[in-house]
Amino acid sequence: MSKDLEHDTGNSHVGHLSHRAARDVRCVLAVFGGAGDLSHKKLLPALYNLSLDGDLPEHFAIVGFSMEKLDDQAYRQFARDGIERNSRRPLTAEAWDKFAPCLHFVSGTFSEAGDYQKLKQRIAQCDQTLGADGNHIFYFAIPPQFIDNCSAGLTAADMITPPDSHRPFTRVVVEKPIGHDLASAAEINSQVARHFDESQIFRIDHYLGKETVENLMVLRFANAIFEPVWSARFIDHVQITVAEQEGVGSRADYYEHAGALRDMVQSHILQVLCMIAMEPPRSIHPEAVRDAKLDVIRSLRPFEAADVERLVVRGQYDEGLVNGEKVRAYRAEERIAPGSTVETFVALKCYVENWRWAGVPFYLRTGKRMAKRASEVAIYFKQVPRILYNARPASPLAPNVLSIRIQPDEGLSLNIVSKMPGAALKLSPVKIDFHYSSASPEAYETLLRDIIVGDQTLFMRRDTVEAAWSFIQNILDAWARSSGEPYTYSAGSWGPTEAAVMIAKDGRAWRTL
Ligand code: BG6
Repeated sequence: MSKDLEHDTGNSHVGHLSHRAARDVRCVLAVFGGAGDLSHKKLLPALYNLSLDGDLPEHFAIVGFSMEKLDDQAYRQFARDGIERNSRRPLTAEAWDKFAPCLHFVSGTFSEAGDYQKLKQRIAQCDQTLGADGNHIFYFAIPPQFIDNCSAGLTAADMITPPDSHRPFTRVVVEKPIGHDLASAAEINSQVARHFDESQIFRIDHYLGKETVENLMVLRFANAIFEPVWSARFIDHVQITVAEQEGVGSRADYYEHAGALRDMVQSHILQVLCMIAMEPPRSIHPEAVRDAKLDVIRSLRPFEAADVERLVVRGQYDEGLVNGEKVRAYRAEERIAPGSTVETFVALKCYVENWRWAGVPFYLRTGKRMAKRASEVAIYFKQVPRILYNARPASPLAPNVLSIRIQPDEGLSLNIVSKMPGAALKLSPVKIDFHYSSASPEAYETLLRDIIVGDQTLFMRRDTVEAAWSFIQNILDAWARSSGEPYTYSAGSWGPTEAAVMIAKDGRAWRTL
């Protein structure tokens, strides 16, 4: 199923993708890890916001499933607390009264056959009360080591229907991290594939649910002015930055085994790169879009061991000031090994080796405890010829830069050169700036709605996940072989100076955000 396309015929809208109404889909959503952190912070608030917008099915139930000893009432309180703390819109009594009855809870472990029977019965009860059609979504909001057990538990309890358009659907949602290297990712994918067909699997990369990331395709393929110049002929280089101010926070146990390359580059940043670099897909059908993205990942020039030293910079934050407040070094954070060599920052240069992008460097950087929270894509166009207004060798004109702000302050801007008003011929860069006027939905709202309607466009296919790991694997291998450690950078800065040196060697600089 693909996204229905709607246009606003007014002059001010380019057009937008919308979704087949989730309202008409009768289903039960069972959340493994329903009383966990992700549910509290993201899933339940997102579901509440969908309910607020009338975007949840009219016949719908959520069944939380995890070890905590909660009953429905206590689960509703857990959800209410999560919504009050984390929802982008405040909880109102009226909306809560409508949403709360959807929530149910089954307490159980992921290894006990009897607990799956309890879950099965509770889901069957919901089906009956709702007059639902037996459509079930299993959301694995759990650490990856439980995925195999949970899939097998569902199979043993006969809770998975094979894909068939005439029968009720079963879908499964798998959260990141999908593996910590190529082999473990392939293993997780194989485990899930033993129980579910690829058409039933929704692998989440929440960046793909961000409004501005989804809009990249619209920007490129719904406007006439970008595509003709979207190639090595006109583009000098591309920069993708995902900078966070937060430190590792309470996720030390996960992060010590991940680091910035696995946590951000392998998934979110490569997905954004795909949206920038992909060829126009043959249609907006999910498989066509996902094929086009896969082509990009497969076209990335693999890193040779010797390249890694030169083209990939890893860093780790030291103590410093973030927003004027003193913060600890990574190694001094709770539950972090004092001698940890895990990277909290990565900057790298890579190439998409195809006809369109030959020779255009893509500079990627991401880090925790950076100076600012800012994620954006910047497309640097080539200089105009060194004649006419650009003839003075000492003062070349600034290049045009199209910057697409993913967050915060979503929007885009284009730097152009213009004449300053007045008699003298004075040229100056000016900025054409567009800001989204209203608050965007959270990524999880978009993604949950897509799961309910069965649209896989914004979810990662198995081949793409493994191709992304395969690209990253060379860097991991080179790091594993080297005795080097990450460079340090002060918290609240833009990363180690080596990252600035790496790009400066090409006569370029990181964009100031
Ligand atoms: C997650 C990473 O996938 O994305 C986190 O595991 C990171 O480390 C987060 O902080 C960033 O997401 P967002 O939406 O806040 O940019």
